[in-house]
Amino acid sequence: MCDDVVRSEYEARPSVGAHGKRAMIPRLFNALYMHGPLGTAWRICAAAQNRFGNIAICKHLCPFVQGALSNIQRSLDSRFDRSHGTDTSGVVPLNALDIKSKNIEEGIWYEPMSVKVFRQLMKALARDPQRYDFVDFGSGKGRVLLLASDYGFRRITGVEFAPELHEIAMRNVAVLERNAGGPGNVEALCMDATEYAIPNVPVVLFFYSPFTGSVMEQVIGNVLTSFAMQPREMVLLFYGSNPNSIDLLKATHWPCRELAIHADWSRFTNYRGFIFTSPAA
Ligand SMILES: C[S@@+](CC[C@H](N)C(=O)[O-])C[C@H]1O[C@@H](n2cnc3c(N)ncnc32)[C@H](O)[C@@H]1O
Repeated sequence: MCDDVVRSEYEARPSVGAHGKRAMIPRLFNALYMHGPLGTAWRICAAAQNRFGNIAICKHLCPFVQGALSNIQRSLDSRFDRSHGTDTSGVVPLNALDIKSKNIEEGIWYEPMSVKVFRQLMKALARDPQRYDFVDFGSGKGRVLLLASDYGFRRITGVEFAPELHEIAMRNVAVLERNAGGPGNVEALCMDATEYAIPNVPVVLFFYSPFTGSVMEQVIGNVLTSFAMQPREMVLLFYGSNPNSIDLLKATHWPCRELAIHADWSRFTNYRGFIFTSPAA
């Protein structure tokens, strides 16, 4: 069912040189196109360190440049929080958190969604949000919840298993409500995604690559069971690059489309975006 996949432009770009070796210039352009100047500079440093790490100047200069790049990246990403008075920025590894779930091994670290990419995904959704509930699986500090609140979804729910991140998300939702002058329709839940009961209404389920493997498999299984019990419009939006997760989503045999996403150059890494729609949608 996934034959209407539109390959994202950067994936289709050739990166193999005339002699079968990945030539330097096309690789550089490919990296610039996919990851932007920051991500490319970061990768060059990493490669130089790998290759020439025993040369003193490289050993000291590369980490210094990477540190500077990280500071620039953090500062660009925290523009969202500076303008909203929230706290959604920064990368948090899961082993720094007190998570009780057995699914921690297959969980992905917290990293806030790119505002630029989220807006593109919402545009690609091409549906009236007022007819749908919205669920963010792995909602972390709640950036996606805040972003989704601009679109008029009926109800917005975040599901996050790390209590520390959930607490921050609750504070961010409170800021949102304060700014809006009253309670809204955004709810943050602290629980494992596999235990979340999907609402029996038309729904957009959002995944910013929150988990992999058997956890992804269980959540997709829950989606399919929920659909079988009550066929309705269900849309899965996935932003990530884990091939196994993408294969699991494709195995639903729901119509799917890969989105041509313009990379957010303030990020070191950009991913692939997919939209899957239930057969009834
Ligand atoms: C890449 S971040 C997603 C960021 C978020 N959606 C946002 O607003 O930008 C992945 C999140 O998934 C959470 N997570 C991973 N496994 C989970 C699970 N089994 N149940 C609930 N949350 C999970 C992590 O704690 C992390 O916060």
